[in-house]
Amino acid sequence: MSDIHSERILILDFGSQYTQLIARRVREAKVYCEIFPYNAGLDKVKAFRPKGLILSGGPSSVYDAGAPLVDKAHLELGIPVLGICYGMQLLTHVLGGQVAKSTKREYGKADLIIHKEDGLFNGIGSEFRTPHSALQTVVWMSHGDRIEKMAPGFSVIAHTDNSPTAAMADEQKKFYGVQFHPEVVHTPQGTQMLRNFVYNVCGCKPSWTMASFVDYSVGEIKKALGNKPVICALSGGVDSSVAAVLVNKAVGKQLTSIFVNNGVLRKNEAEKVQQTFKEMGLNLRYVDASAEFLGKLKGVEDPEKKRKIIGTTFIEVFERAAQEAGDAEFLVQGTLYPDVIESVSFKGPSAIIKSHHNVGGLPEKMKLKLIEPLRELFKDEVRAIGRELEMADDIIDRQPFPGPGLAIRILGEVTEQRLAILREADAIVIEVIKKAGLYKDIWQSFAVLLPIKTVGVMGDERTYENVVAVRAVTSQDGMTADWAKLPYDLLETMSNRIINEVKGVNRVVFDISSKPPSTIEWE
Ligand code: XMP
Repeated sequence: MSDIHSERILILDFGSQYTQLIARRVREAKVYCEIFPYNAGLDKVKAFRPKGLILSGGPSSVYDAGAPLVDKAHLELGIPVLGICYGMQLLTHVLGGQVAKSTKREYGKADLIIHKEDGLFNGIGSEFRTPHSALQTVVWMSHGDRIEKMAPGFSVIAHTDNSPTAAMADEQKKFYGVQFHPEVVHTPQGTQMLRNFVYNVCGCKPSWTMASFVDYSVGEIKKALGNKPVICALSGGVDSSVAAVLVNKAVGKQLTSIFVNNGVLRKNEAEKVQQTFKEMGLNLRYVDASAEFLGKLKGVEDPEKKRKIIGTTFIEVFERAAQEAGDAEFLVQGTLYPDVIESVSFKGPSAIIKSHHNVGGLPEKMKLKLIEPLRELFKDEVRAIGRELEMADDIIDRQPFPGPGLAIRILGEVTEQRLAILREADAIVIEVIKKAGLYKDIWQSFAVLLPIKTVGVMGDERTYENVVAVRAVTSQDGMTADWAKLPYDLLETMSNRIINEVKGVNRVVFDISSKPPSTIEWE
């Protein structure tokens, strides 16, 4: 086991929407952690060898029928425990205290008055302190039930106006509970509290760094591959790009990266990807299958059919290219940690994201073994690894782009002519957003070509041309999204430029729908 994994924290997930945030905060403290479902077996938990345990929040009440409860054995490992919100109520409930059912939720910011400055609250709340004032800091509350009577051994270490037991500790056992959420940004000193837990209470040292991860992964990849050939489907997106560059660093020419032009890429995409990765020294095989894809898409209007055609054609093309590259036994895939977590909170949505992101059926069909060097990482860590590998910002900060590409942004039939219109319009949207310095703050921004024509006037003539919709959304993960409130003058620039520069467009509209109930793509 490498050093980077020697300091470990385990998070048991009880269904909170914030569980992944806890993990990211701990990792930002350079301590490795993983998320297990709350009912993970004791053997699995012990085998992980955690130095501390964090019980996440969750939407349940400990009194609900079927509420997820913490296994008492998990609390008897002799390691420190931090219960957050529902996690604190669980500690109370199973260790002999009393949780009071409440009909009213406490939601929002609260002033936390700290009774004891050490342990969890070391260095917290002191910045505005006057000689006789209490230590105080702002925390984010979101709970229904509250602690009526603490379990034996616990004492109050902080309170708020509404919560007499806002934080508690059994210092002998090193068990802590907080009613608020230290992991969210609305608790400004929450990161420091989690660091206190991880460093001071659990005794972890910061060892999870991106540089050491690269070293570690290179070693592991070498061990797994020996001198066998490996292939990779390079899309030009962040995940597959970072995965390919990492494997390339480990085994160099043993890796063949296959980049398929499916005919529905953005403007200059095929050239840019080839240039970038050749410059990085990758053994890149470029397959221009655009004619094959577009031939099969001819006359097809149904979005699901388009997706199917693109998916199956991709497998056929990739399989041929792979055979030409030699007999590979291994396939590199850019799977990320959120796709791997078998957690209660992410069961539903992550299954959906996964079906989008997997290179549909390739490994099974071609009997390939998977190499997934990013499967321990969150997206922001993948970007950090990319920087560590000296990859260009242009690749690392890319907005996500769907596998079926512009085909699901052209409503109706995909033709060369309609692709040409959309490519130009889309390039203008991206250029204007980038120039305004907004590209990184926006989850996705792009143009959509609608299947209708409208009347316009140009000079003295009436026109009857296409409508382009501009979509720009902010989002954390693509599951939910809000439309980006782009400034009017920026929208104006976009609209003017598209109508003036793109032949065949006489109207631009801006999409002001959030997801749900709408989706990000128009399909
Ligand atoms: P929707 O339109 O469902 O999209 O709100 C959610 C996110 O998924 C992306 N997306 C895809 N990504 N292959 C992909 O790799 C796909 O087939 C696919 N379809 C949608 C979409 O761009 C958004 O980020």
